[in-house]
Amino acid sequence: QAPGQVKHYLQFADLTREEYDYLLKRSAWLKTKFKSYETWHPLHDRTLAMIFEKHSTRTRLSFEAGIHQLGGHAVYLNTRDTQLGRGEPVEDAAQVISRMTDIIMIRTFGQEIIERFAANSRVPVINGLTNEFHPCQVLADIFTFVEARGPIQGKTVAWVGDANNMAYTWIQAAECLDFQIRFSAPEGYQLDGSRLTAKALKHLTICTDPKDACKDADLVTTDVWTSMGYEDENTSRMTAFKDWMVDEELMSVAKPDALFMHCLPAHRGEEVSAEVIDGPQSIVWEEAENRLHVQKALMEYLLCGRLD
Ligand code: CP
Ligand code: NVA
Repeated sequence: QAPGQVKHYLQFADLTREEYDYLLKRSAWLKTKFKSYETWHPLHDRTLAMIFEKHSTRTRLSFEAGIHQLGGHAVYLNTRDTQLGRGEPVEDAAQVISRMTDIIMIRTFGQEIIERFAANSRVPVINGLTNEFHPCQVLADIFTFVEARGPIQGKTVAWVGDANNMAYTWIQAAECLDFQIRFSAPEGYQLDGSRLTAKALKHLTICTDPKDACKDADLVTTDVWTSMGYEDENTSRMTAFKDWMVDEELMSVAKPDALFMHCLPAHRGEEVSAEVIDGPQSIVWEEAENRLHVQKALMEYLLCGRLD
């Protein structure tokens, strides 16, 4: 296909609620197949290029295992030993990589980089994390919530921590799937109002006190205080966020059956206490595993359309 006519997944808002309903069902179907060792190769002979400009464990592994399980093959590229790290224009790289592969996943810095790449790609491009968004992770988180508790519509999700890629993706998801987000971060680390749509504001409450955010929440979630690419700010962030740790006291104000999620990697004693992440309300290992299942559904959908 010519660039410009391809369906990409660059942010959560790129798909509709109907498409998410399908993907959540399809993820469950693919998960059951995987658990019963049934072969399913709709992407036979297809190649996934995985481009990493930042570190990764879960994203790399889940995409690589996922394409393999669907009958395809993955090629891992990083900026350390490809021309991408030596200044080849993103547009040129997109032209070339998308002529040799069937689907591309990118983890990079600015969202504009992945957008420029996608605009020049002949095949679907998937956001595997940018400074602005992490849609595959929130898709996995929502699938995990639905698996454990049923539909997320009308539920309340508490976000305790940085206004980072995960936070903005949760806000897009709330708008698209119709649930509420309560956001709480220290002064100086608030959301950027210019990135919030009028519709998103209807699904968002900003709380000064993290306890207000967690009160009666169905899900409490957080993330690192310092995201990749912001390491220079680490010292000031450690001080600013010290009262934003999700601990048992914070969890106690949420609903008794509230779940705890974290996209991982986590820092016990910083954004979450060991008691919470290793405790009974934590669902972080299922959340991590589900990256595999939802991304298989996503790759299958972008390449084959609906198969139900
Ligand atoms: N959660 C997540 O994306 O993990 P990795 O950085 O290990 O890929
Ligand atoms: N917000 C974190 C997520 C890591 C998976 C980061 O961008 O580093």
